[in-house]
Amino acid sequence: INKIGVLTSGGDSPGMNAAIRAVVRTCAYHNIECIGIYRGFQGMIEGDFKEMGPRSVNNIVNKGGTILKSARSKDFMHYEGRKKAFENLQNVGVNALVIIGGDGSFTGAEIFNKEFGFPIMGIPGTIDNDIYGTSHTLGYDTALNTVVECIDKIRDTASSHNRLFFVEVMGRDAGHIALNAGIGAGAEEILIPEEDLGLDRLIESLERSKKNGKTSSIVVVSEGDKTTGKNVFELKEYVEANLPEYDVRVSVLGHMQRGGSPSCFDRVLASRMGVKAVESLLEGKSNYMVGLLNDKMELTPLEQAIKGSCEIDKELLRVSDITSI
Ligand code: F6P
Repeated sequence: INKIGVLTSGGDSPGMNAAIRAVVRTCAYHNIECIGIYRGFQGMIEGDFKEMGPRSVNNIVNKGGTILKSARSKDFMHYEGRKKAFENLQNVGVNALVIIGGDGSFTGAEIFNKEFGFPIMGIPGTIDNDIYGTSHTLGYDTALNTVVECIDKIRDTASSHNRLFFVEVMGRDAGHIALNAGIGAGAEEILIPEEDLGLDRLIESLERSKKNGKTSSIVVVSEGDKTTGKNVFELKEYVEANLPEYDVRVSVLGHMQRGGSPSCFDRVLASRMGVKAVESLLEGKSNYMVGLLNDKMELTPLEQAIKGSCEIDKELLRVSDITSI
């Protein structure tokens, strides 16, 4: 391997730039070439490439987003698209790839590896923390801090007006952001897809809060939660109908959760993952994802990373119940 391509794919996450920087500089350290591929797999199909040396990644360790841009490529879902991408890589002499993205990107990467035998190493970049084989995905810690900061602010106004707020957070089908940020921000209740709280228990809990002397409340709702059968706006209506003493508002945090300067944790994680990804390729390994397990960099087969289930920690549910009393 003497030329590695690097790309970011799927939803961006804070720390992707720090990972690109680490990949580019690890290549330079080992005297091999590095090519940046723009707009993920779509740029691979269109041949949107740029040579990257160690000075091309100056001053990005602290920047949110991704300088290589990101996309969810429909063309890469078809064999013709993947074949074109393979030919483009061959034409410029790229003979291994580092793919920074989530499970959708890894699924595409896996197929590409199987079809063309192309050496690939994945770095888990998503705020959702929904990937098996790593305790933390890149950007998750920053997103948690962003959410906690937002809820702290919402709490100020909730408390001034004696209000109940439903705060919707991202996470796709996983409740990691909701559960952890909910505990960190002292939420009264947390609704996540992995645990069925039920509408009745939500109402009981809000009644209990009032009885216990709480004048305002925060309920964090994961966007993927289907357990109540209601979205945040319908939940507001339901509570207003059943507990008229509550003055209810809704706040959907949205894409702000994906932006911003990465936390120190994410910068260090990105740097470690970037180094490990390139050095693993140079050792001849392929079709793995780099992850953080017990504070060590470990490799998990891509297939397992995609298919393995990434369960929530039940202890956290209990901690939330006890501390929100
Ligand atoms: O996977 C990251 C994520 O931000 C999810 O939390 C969210 O459901 C989704 O991407 C939003 O995607 P888009 O940017 O396409 O709206």
